[in-house]
Amino acid sequence: MRVFVTQAIDPAGLAALRDAGLEVQQRDDPRPIARGALLDAVRGCAGLIPMPTDRIDDAVLATEGLKVVAHHAVGHDNIDLEAAKRRGVIVTNTPGVLTAATADLTLALLLAAARRLIEADRMMRADAFEGWRPLLLRGLALDGARLGVVGLGRIGRAVAQRAQAFGMQVVHHSRSEKPGFTRLGLEALLETSDVVSLHCPLTDDTRHLIDAAALARMKPGAILINTARGPVVDEAALVEALDSGHLGGAGLDVFEDEPRAHPKLRAQPRAVLAPHIGSATVAARRQMATKAAANLIAALRGEEPPDRIA
Ligand code: NAP
Ligand code: GLV
Repeated sequence: MRVFVTQAIDPAGLAALRDAGLEVQQRDDPRPIARGALLDAVRGCAGLIPMPTDRIDDAVLATEGLKVVAHHAVGHDNIDLEAAKRRGVIVTNTPGVLTAATADLTLALLLAAARRLIEADRMMRADAFEGWRPLLLRGLALDGARLGVVGLGRIGRAVAQRAQAFGMQVVHHSRSEKPGFTRLGLEALLETSDVVSLHCPLTDDTRHLIDAAALARMKPGAILINTARGPVVDEAALVEALDSGHLGGAGLDVFEDEPRAHPKLRAQPRAVLAPHIGSATVAARRQMATKAAANLIAALRGEEPPDRIA
């Protein structure tokens, strides 16, 4: 049976697929695969391992003989789960193994934005440091500040634990109560948090959840962190909120129109930008590859895959 993998993954994942007797075709091109090329490549395959950049819609899922889509990610907004169910294609994802890595990256963005690390780095590289000054590059003190987590799930909770170690007081906005944490309405969270960090999935309910009105509710000087999905934030409105000085900073790992970031974001010194590397540690990417492979192999053997979502 043939399997198509849309990007180069950790070799441990490929080895597991080959050891299971599968014929694996792995694409090795850093650009997202074009739509026509994906439809061509998946023809004749029983399994597909896609990336968050691949749109897995009804046309892909209609491929004759396709039995399983083993997503190489936890977020699955790019996959039409209803169409998969209708067509009897099994879909799995990779929860948990990337939680710590993504939480660490979130804290890296938070610290960099709060302590204005990008501006500081640029100053040194430009040889523009004139000497120690009490008012130079003052940022936000995390100790005692409030972190508002939107979507207190696996990653949101891991971020909360890390932030608490820095002395932050954590509240959340999710649809359900989470034991041990205070739940607030979105408006109250935005109005009272010094840092807002987004960890909800991208759904019809969360698309542009953080729009111009939401940004206007945030405290003057507050910081927005987004390691969830780009379209949760209205990026043009975020640019306005940073350019006007209302927000004190932003840390972004995801963008509305990936792989591009809004041109004004790229020019904004208070924005810390990363190319969707939340889970990019060697360990996490290896576990994501082996988890996707294990899910795919189980499904093709007729067993229930551990991380089935459709
Ligand atoms: P998770 O455990 O399912 O957590 C998501 C949380 O969001 C849930 O606790 C859920 O709680 C909450 N939520 C759902 N809908 C909501 C809404 N409308 N408003 C507020 N909260 C809502 O998922 P996870 O593993 O933490 O991953 C979260 C997301 O992070 C993924 O979906 C993915 O998009 C993103 N991610 C990004 C990277 C990266 O590289 N940057 C890496 C991994 C994941 P309730 O059900 O109680 O609302
Ligand atoms: C990455 O963005 C993921 O959802 O795993």
